[in-house]
Formats: sequence, C-alpha cells, structure tokens
Amino acid sequence: MRVSSVSFANWRNLTSAACELSHGINVLWGMNAQGKSNILEGIYFFARGRSFRGSKEKEFIQFGEEFASVSMSFRKDGYSEDTELSATIQKNGKKVLRRNGAPLSSSSEMMGNFRAVLFAPSNLSLVTGGPLERRTFLDIAISQLSPVYLKYLKRYSVALMERNALLKMAQAGEQIQEESLDVYSSALSDYGSWICSFRNEYVSLLNKSVEKYFSEMTDGREKPEMKYMSHAALGNMPEPLTGEIRRGDPAVLYEKLSSNHDREIAAGSTLWGIHKDDITITFNGHEAKSFASQGQQRSMALSMKLAEADISSRIGGEYPVILLDDVFSELDVSRRKFILNTLGEERQRQIIITSCDPNVVPDGAFGDVNFLHVEAGGIRNGD
Ligand SMILES: Nc1ncnc2c1ncn2[C@@H]1O[C@H](COP(=O)(O)OP(=O)(O)OP(=O)(O)O)[C@@H](O)[C@H]1O
Ligand SMILES: [Mg+2]
Repeated sequence: MRVSSVSFANWRNLTSAACELSHGINVLWGMNAQGKSNILEGIYFFARGRSFRGSKEKEFIQFGEEFASVSMSFRKDGYSEDTELSATIQKNGKKVLRRNGAPLSSSSEMMGNFRAVLFAPSNLSLVTGGPLERRTFLDIAISQLSPVYLKYLKRYSVALMERNALLKMAQAGEQIQEESLDVYSSALSDYGSWICSFRNEYVSLLNKSVEKYFSEMTDGREKPEMKYMSHAALGNMPEPLTGEIRRGDPAVLYEKLSSNHDREIAAGSTLWGIHKDDITITFNGHEAKSFASQGQQRSMALSMKLAEADISSRIGGEYPVILLDDVFSELDVSRRKFILNTLGEERQRQIIITSCDPNVVPDGAFGDVNFLHVEAGGIRNGD
C-alpha cells in the first residue's frame, strides 16, 4: 500500500498545500513548527479515523476558518488505479467523508480502506505508561485489521457508558432496576468476549515478533515477554484473526458483573471488563516499567511498533504505509539503519519520515530518497 499524493485546505497551518510521495523513503524536513507533523496527522487520519495527538476534530480547522479538509490518493498492492479518500470537517461539527467521491456513512466505514503504522516519540509510553496506552495500541492495530473488532469495540463502549450512568444514579441514591444492570452486564460480557479473544491472539502474535526484533536490536541477553491480562480471558481462547471468527466464553465476565452490584454501586462505575485489560511486559521475568533501563524501554517500544507493522503485513496481506514522526532524532545511526532495513525490506514499503534534519537517512542501500521541504505550511520538492 502506498500514498501517491495528499492535499490540504485550512488543515491546521496548511492553508493550501499538496505533495506527491514516492514509493520508497520520503523525508518531510524543515524547521520546528512548519507543518511536518500536521501532514502526517492528515495521512494517519484515514487509517485511524481520528488524530494521533488526541486532538478533537474541530482543532484541525485553521484558526479563524470555517472548515478543514484533507484528501489523499493511495494505491493498494496489485491495483492499477488509485483510491481517493477525503475528509472535510466543518466548524459546526459536521464531517463529510468520501471514497472516490461517494459519501461514507461513518469513520468505521472509512477505516479498513487504508492502513498505516505510526511511530512517534510518545510510543515510549507503551512501556512506561499506564494500561490505557497499551489498550489503545491494541485497539488501533486490531481495528485496522478487523471491522468485526471495531464493531464490537464501539458497542462495548456504548454499553459501558450506559451501565456506568446507571451505577452513578444508584450511587447518588436513586432507585434503579437491577435487571437493567443485568441487561448491560450481558451486553458487556458478550461484546467483551469477542474483544478479549482478538486481543489475546494479537498479543501472542506480538510476543513472538517482539522477541525477534528486540534480540536483533540488542545484545540478546534479555528476553522480553508480553502477556495479555483480562478479566474476560480464559485458558483456551479462539484465534479470530488468523483462524475461525469466534469469540471466547462470555460466562466468565458475566459472572463477575452479575454478582458484585453492591461494590459497583459504591464505586459508581463498572469494575470488571475489557476496559481494564492490560499487557504485562517483562524482561527475564522482571517488570519492564520498573526494572528496564531507558535504552531497553526504548528498544522495546520500537520492537512493538516494528511488530505491529509485521503483523499488519502478514494478516492484512500487504505492507502498511510507515509514518515516522520525529523518531530518528533520538536514535543512533545503527538503530536508524536497523529500523530502515527492517521496515524497508525488499524496498516494498513506503516510509514517510519527518525530521528537522534532511540528512536523517543514513548513507547506504536505501534507494532513492524523496525530499520534501516543509516551510510555513507549504510543501515543495527538493533538498
Ligand atoms: N488549528 C490550527 N490553525 C493554525 N495553526 C495551527 C493549528 N493547529 C496547529 N497549528 C500550528 O501548526 C504549526 C506546525 O505544527 P506541526 O506540529 O506540524 O510542526 P512540525 O513541523 O511538526 O514541528 P516540530 O519539528 O517541532 O515537530 C504549529 O506552529 C502550530 O501552532
Ligand atoms: Mg512535529
């Protein structure tokens, strides 16, 4: 998969900007605050359906303007024509998404068309941050590979919100029907057991891939291990990503949710479920967050992103586009080479790098590099 071109109107500081991208490595370079990350944010929007910076959609709109829009042509491997995706976000909150000119009904319908893996310095928090960081990582990675996962994730979130609202009412002393709580418990167990089986399988794929990358990147003395932890997890889970689409047993979670109403009412929220899941990361049995060195934590976070790209290629059937936002500035030349060699395997992958320094790509066999200079919200070819 590769992006052929992208254009922006009133997209943050990109008033009116466009560029074409080449097959292999593209370097978007320029000084700070010129618009490099804004370009990647626009491209990644089509893969994830929202901002990678956690911004609200309205924040895409250039200060003082009425709308923001981005459109992108990309080509899937083996296809002879581009697909065009576009998004326009208006100040009144209205959003119009299109594929080849035809309107799409939702972000979910847009996702699954275009796949990308984003590397950013904030990825370190995959190892050092809280469980939410790791759940978000799983949700983004798996949603791009499975519309079924995305569907159940959305349904789960809605049921969770409604169940929590009921629990809050009860906490405040209002009378609630316990049967309505049970209706939501059953919905959460049902959707949760789907989500759990997808995540469980994804983490076991991740674990294998991470082990390989981590030992190649380091001296190999320390062995990392990742395990998926869930209230809903069972011993023998189905493998819906690579095998038959099946879910785990909903009874485990239902049992917890139906027998602890008093505790949940006291807390005013749902205490069990896949919204509490985590991945534990250890090195030779010791928790990475507390015991690993900064270098090891960084190598681990990079290995997780490399593994995400690897799994996306294997399960999605083609290479995702790789977006590297500012990650090279803190890496030594040997790591840069390792990452580009790993990602650029057989030069089939498109890689888009942002950097202040145009010379981020180490000399070597990385093919022709396409340089794009980003300055004051404009993009022009050249180094
Ligand atoms: N809604 C908006 N309207 C106008 N400008 C905006 C908006 N949102 C962000 N900006 C501006 O866009 C500029 C470019 O931001 P961006 O994050 O793309 O910079 P960058 O080139 O990646 O810089 P760095 O090298 O520091 O990461 C910033 O000056 C920022 O203030
Ligand atoms: Mg930036």
